[in-house]
Formats: sequence, structure tokens, C-alpha cells
Amino acid sequence: MYLTVCDATKTYGNFTALDRVSIEIEKGEFVCLLGPSGCGKTTLLRLIAGLTDLDGGEISLEGSPLSDLPARKRGFGIVFQSYSLFPNMTIAENIGYGLKIRGAPNEEINARVTDLLALVKLPHLADNFPGQLSGGQQQRIALARAIAVDPRVLLLDEPLSALDAKVRAELRDEIRQVQRSLGIPTLMVTHDQEEALALADKIICMNHGVVVQAGTPEELYHRPATRFVAEFMGISNLLSAEQVERHYPDLLATRPSSESAYLACIRPEQIGVTPDEDGMSSVRSISFLGNLRRLEVDTPGGPLLVETHGANPCQEGTRVSLNIQPHACTWVIDDAAQHATSPA
Ligand SMILES: Nc1ncnc2c1ncn2[C@@H]1O[C@H](COP(=O)(O)OP(=O)(O)OP(=O)(O)O)[C@@H](O)[C@H]1O
Ligand SMILES: [Mg+2]
Repeated sequence: MYLTVCDATKTYGNFTALDRVSIEIEKGEFVCLLGPSGCGKTTLLRLIAGLTDLDGGEISLEGSPLSDLPARKRGFGIVFQSYSLFPNMTIAENIGYGLKIRGAPNEEINARVTDLLALVKLPHLADNFPGQLSGGQQQRIALARAIAVDPRVLLLDEPLSALDAKVRAELRDEIRQVQRSLGIPTLMVTHDQEEALALADKIICMNHGVVVQAGTPEELYHRPATRFVAEFMGISNLLSAEQVERHYPDLLATRPSSESAYLACIRPEQIGVTPDEDGMSSVRSISFLGNLRRLEVDTPGGPLLVETHGANPCQEGTRVSLNIQPHACTWVIDDAAQHATSPA
């Protein structure tokens, strides 16, 4: 492992912002830290950057603890959510700043700045000032500035959240390309699950200051461990064991034998729907979402969401039968029930 965070704990007064958080980043890996507002994402990033002190646990890089190393000596590149360029410096000066304070010769700085401006596709803006750039352009420059000094780790705290949807998607792909081509281990904070799914080699899903699940995007989407992860990673149908037993007994085969409360999680695109005059279910409503249609279907076991691509043979009111293959069902721990029963 390249970067390891082991049992990191951070408290503010009586409040525990991070509770024994452990994460690992391999060389060249793009890791997304995903979770709702207030779950501790920025706190963890700041601990890794050395901008905040740990109350417990350890952070190491290639086996060496970082605790005694101040932020500026860690050699990490950081991009924050809000544009943090120096307003009174030109774009070229902003990108070259880190090299300049390290005493690099001007020729080297100029060559590096030219390369980086080409990399982030803004070669014509070298002599402009940050205030003359759009938000998306400023974040590209912030990225170039962060990677100018060949950082050992790149830390990105919601670098795209202030941008509109289209620019956001474009820049998301560019960040990924740049990261791939340079192979910099990267930890990016986001609370957007789509962004995490699209970008990450590995997603670390957090809630209330703890890591709930870590794995590949496929694992978190198709094999969520808990109800929280299932709901956070996209739309799902969640059925109780009793509902499954009564209405979908085929799905019981995969059920874990454990005392915990489990729910069956079935993603809407995993359900097949066919018009059937003798079907037990009927389509209550259809939403057209461009690339797919989302159907709300009334079934004897309660309403289910179904998503279909391509031609749609159903209308509102059409009687249908549904097909759910056992492998489409994942049993997840009902952590909402756990929270409800545990003392506050
Ligand atoms: N300096 C501080 N003093 C007291 N509490 C703090 C401090 N910094 C953070 N917190 C608290 O710690 C918790 C985690 O904050 P953090 O900024 O890490 O959340 P986040 O996951 O980044 O949220 P968001 O998605 O909104 O940015 C929050 O409840 C916050 O109020
Ligand atoms: Mg934050």
C-alpha cells in the first residue's frame, strides 16, 4: 500500500467527526471518498494533508508515518472546492508558484507551465488573471498548479461542485485522463455518487464519521453491504424478508442466515417487464428520462420501480408480469433499523 490511514480519529469537543477511520490507496489509484454532507470527508482530507492534527491513529506514506511532517513538507497537491488561485498573479505565475518557491530556474518553470497549460487545454490563458476566467477554467488551473510540483499524492475536495452539470462532466473526464496519464495516486472527495461511479478505481463510502463500505464502483453499486450504501449509490427497491418470502420465494435462495435484519435490494434495471393480460401487476406511472423510462409498477407485494431502455411496450394501466432473476437480488443489512433501535 502506498498511502495508509489507520484508525484515524478526530474529535471537536464532545463531537466525534471521525471514528477510527482506516483507508488505503495504492500507487496510481484514483479513490473517491463519498458520503453525505457532514460525514467527515473534508476532515479526513485535511488530516491526510497535514492541515489538521489527528487525535488518534496514524497516517503513513510508503510505510513512513507522516505525523511529524508539516503540510508543506508532505509533497501533496491539493485542490479545494472553491477557487483558490492567487488573484493578483497571472495564470502562468499561479501554476509556477510551487516551483518558484522551491528555487527552480526560470527556464524550467516556463517549460513546465507551458506543458501544464497544454495538458489542461488552456494554452492561450497564460497571461490572464484568475478573475478573467470562468469557474471551470479556474479549476483546471488549480489542478495544473497542484500537479506542477509532481505531488506524491493528489487531494481533491469537491473540485467540481461549484460548476454547472455540463462543465462538470467534461472536467470530470479531464481530471481522470490527467490522473491516468501521470499516475498520481489521487483521493477525491465528492458527495455525488454518479461522479464517484464514473471516476473511481475504488470508492470509500462514509457516514457519520465512519467508513461504511469500500470497494470498486461495481461492488458498491451491485453488492452494497447496507441499506445506507444501497440507497446512497442509486435507486433501489428494498424488500423485507417477509415480502420476499410471500411474493418472490425464488430470491430466498441467496439469503444470508444471520440474526441481523436483512433487506433484499433489487436495482430497477434488473427487473424484466412484459405486457401480460393475465399478469398480477400493472403499470401505475411512467417517467421518460431520455435514455431510459422509469416505471412505477403496482404488484401484489407492493410497488416496485423498474427501468427499461429502448422501445417501451407499456403504457400507464398496462397489465404486466415481472421477472426478477435470483442473481439480481443482493441482501443488505438494514442499518436504518439499527440506528432506529440504538440509543441516540
Ligand atoms: N473546526 C471544526 N470545529 C468543530 N466542528 C467541526 C470542525 N470542522 C468540522 N466540524 C464538524 O465535523 C463534521 C464533519 O465535517 P466535514 O467538513 O468533514 O464534513 P464533509 O463530509 O466534508 O461535509 P460536506 O459534504 O458538507 O463538505 C461536521 O459535523 C462539522 O460540523
Ligand atoms: Mg467537505
